[in-house]
Amino acid sequence: MRFTADCLLLFGATGDLAQRMLLPSLCALDADGLVSDHLRIVGTARQELDDAGYRAFAREALETYLPDYRKPAIEPFLARLHYQPLDANNAAGFADLAAKVGPVQDGLAIFLSTAPSLFEPTIAGLVASGLAGERTRIGLEKPLGTNLATSRHINDAVSSAFPEERIFRIDHYLGKETVQNLLALRFANVMFEPLWNAAHIDHVQITVAETVGLEGRVGFYDGAGALRDMVQNHMLQLLALVAMEPPASFDATAVRDEKVKVLRSLRKVERDETVTGQYRAGAIGGAAVPGYDQELGQDSDTETFVAIKAHVDNWRWKGVPFYLRTGKRLYERVTEIVVQFRPVPHSIFAGRGARTQPNQLVIGIQPAENITLSLMAKEPGLDRGGIRLREVSLDISMPDAFAGPKKRIAYERLLLDLIEGDQTLFVRRDEVEAQWEWIDSVRQTWDDHAITPKTYTAGSWGPSAAIALAERDGVTWHE
Ligand code: BG6
Repeated sequence: MRFTADCLLLFGATGDLAQRMLLPSLCALDADGLVSDHLRIVGTARQELDDAGYRAFAREALETYLPDYRKPAIEPFLARLHYQPLDANNAAGFADLAAKVGPVQDGLAIFLSTAPSLFEPTIAGLVASGLAGERTRIGLEKPLGTNLATSRHINDAVSSAFPEERIFRIDHYLGKETVQNLLALRFANVMFEPLWNAAHIDHVQITVAETVGLEGRVGFYDGAGALRDMVQNHMLQLLALVAMEPPASFDATAVRDEKVKVLRSLRKVERDETVTGQYRAGAIGGAAVPGYDQELGQDSDTETFVAIKAHVDNWRWKGVPFYLRTGKRLYERVTEIVVQFRPVPHSIFAGRGARTQPNQLVIGIQPAENITLSLMAKEPGLDRGGIRLREVSLDISMPDAFAGPKKRIAYERLLLDLIEGDQTLFVRRDEVEAQWEWIDSVRQTWDDHAITPKTYTAGSWGPSAAIALAERDGVTWHE
């Protein structure tokens, strides 16, 4: 049943995500007239606040995180906000929460941005208080488990109260414009798809490099590490979008059916196909930064960097490695996908001493939002008896192509879809479980072969073994 929710219930309403992303996104949606006039937002968290207290809290977050041009929208937005304190472990509190939510006319959208340990008591409380009715859908923020078993446990708990059509698992990368643009590039153009296979593509690289370190998330991050924090979700979603077959339509079932097939085709990685790392003190952009162990205050064997040579075992991708790498405190912040095509089958220019480079398509996800296609061209000039070739690039900057559209936060798209009930950009249960199954197998390889993080200097591109991982195959990471 598709309905537009007229109340949004936000668990974790005083958390970091709410301050930095959720409240600013909701305010932006409001400013652009994208939510209905009667949408109410009820925040809940442990902190003892009343409506006025929460509005003051939200005002401060919005003043801090919204760009200036959005700030006039803050005051009218605050009127939508209400607040009810709740300790999710105290079942009795849910009755008061339900009273605060009050009668909902069209439907209720719930967003759980809380520790996963609170999911179960929260679901139980929602059911007992009547908040999990037929016109309620629920959005779940990661982490959804730490392995396949715990993820199943969470999924079972949520599924006991909500059918899959009303469960919205968030991967905020799917809310990014440039990630959605991958689908447009592949399936709204005719020229790439015939070449998008093992016959024409040599390999694919997916890089999600960050310059930030722990950012105060000591407890969470040290228990997760880069594989579970970034590869399990964001990177595997990017890989699935690059590798999937064309879905029959841009519809939640069709798109997710194709993604899950890719995730299930991932081969178990071998010992020499994965490298992990942990940063040591170094410098980023000229500023000295401490090592992971110093930030943490103790030794740890948690990885802050992972590189993997992955394989999608199906007809389309047989023999095409997907090199994945992600890490904290790397040289620069960049998320990009590089599609490296094969060389021309025969160079007619070789006899004249000219070399051709294989074509390369680089899809910049962030911070640069661009698509660059490198091509070979003749260098102008009268070369006696010869011809000089040079690589040139076709470079499309998305902000320039669209005359500087408003920069959107990924959560704007996702919150709007949650309110309106469109699941296309949310992760289905079978996808998330296929992701975990593969991640568990990577961890098993690490355990079986005692693979532990190699150190790398903050501000570098990761451990040298990660460079060697690609170079062994004659591949250079794109920089
Ligand atoms: C989150 C991870 O999911 O994604 C963080 O938990 C990471 O560790 C963040 O920093 C990166 O998101 P973005 O949108 O800045 O690339």
